Amino acid sequence: MNCLSDPVATFDSLLAGPSPLLALAPMQDVTDLPFWRLLARYGGPDVYWTEYSRVHGTSSIERSVLEAIEKNPTGRPAIAQLIGNDPVAMARAARELDRMPIAAVDLNLGCPAPVVYRKCAGGGLLREPRRIDVLLGTLREAVTRVRFTVKTRLGFGDAAAEWEPLLEVFRRHPIDLLTVHGRTVVDMYRTEVRYDLIARAVEAMPCPVIANGNIWSPERASEVMGRTGARGLMIGRGCIRNPWLFEQIRAHQAGRMPVHPSGREVLAYVQALYEETIPVAEFRERLQVEKMKKYMNFIGEGVGRPAEFLHAIRRVEDRASFFAVCREHLDHGDPMPLVPRG
Ligand SMILES: Cc1cc2nc3c(=O)[nH]c(=O)nc-3n(C[C@H](O)[C@H](O)[C@H](O)COP(=O)(O)O)c2cc1C
Repeated sequence: MNCLSDPVATFDSLLAGPSPLLALAPMQDVTDLPFWRLLARYGGPDVYWTEYSRVHGTSSIERSVLEAIEKNPTGRPAIAQLIGNDPVAMARAARELDRMPIAAVDLNLGCPAPVVYRKCAGGGLLREPRRIDVLLGTLREAVTRVRFTVKTRLGFGDAAAEWEPLLEVFRRHPIDLLTVHGRTVVDMYRTEVRYDLIARAVEAMPCPVIANGNIWSPERASEVMGRTGARGLMIGRGCIRNPWLFEQIRAHQAGRMPVHPSGREVLAYVQALYEETIPVAEFRERLQVEKMKKYMNFIGEGVGRPAEFLHAIRRVEDRASFFAVCREHLDHGDPMPLVPRG
């Protein structure tokens, strides 16, 4: 049962400060109810984004998203993300969400998956600012009770040419918050993040802006806050690897030493992730091990000898051998920085 009585008011007061707003990034097949629950045990973010819910003519809000919203056990506000391009269907989905116990409806303008962008949704819309303009107008009108937010990349392929015109479009609509992942769609996930262009959004937008991209450590978090002047930070892959990250950032910002978990504590996190994310309906060990491999792609980057660790993890087929590899690399008492080691 969702235990937060007024998510909108809570979100508003978090946005008003004084601390930087720390948000969990929406991540497909990751940021569901079990992951929220687990993250909350480590302190967790201030705000939890859902995975995106696809919207088309006959769609309804996806079941895993509804479950996360209705049962939100974190005590913190949730924001539900939509992806699509049909203004009528998007308005219908937004009105449905507007009645639910969430803080905001968020529009996805960044998904770089070809199956999505080729249909001119997510990041694909960034090639068509006029369609974004219509969609923002429609959604702004549909969302009346909760806040309306947008999460975007810097453009489709050429930030230098596209970012200013996009900001112009965003400025035309009274959106309540803009999250900027400082890359284009073509950049995918690996290039440098353009924090300077996030700073430009902070300067240009009348609403608060949240910075997103490659925030792995409390030190990087402070650096990004300084370089962008953003109202807060959104973190994705960094908190799959390091669920302590939000608390570490809070400690660092308050001038305290962040606690770095030991290998054994990371091992306990991996065990908890395995147990928490077992599907209620049907448990099959082989499938659960495959699911764990997806999380391990991120967690493994922060482990000593990451290439060797990931090579071994990709070859396991059952629970026992999965945890044998994890123990070999993590069953120690040394503190782990949990940042990508390349
Ligand atoms: C596995 C995965 C799934 C993602 N799914 C979504 C999504 O549903 N909606 C969205 O707006 N962004 C999605 N993203 C992008 C993240 O929200 C975020 O913008 C990106 O990972 C950069 O932040 P990070 O460097 O902190 O990971 C996804 C990213 C990953 C790695």
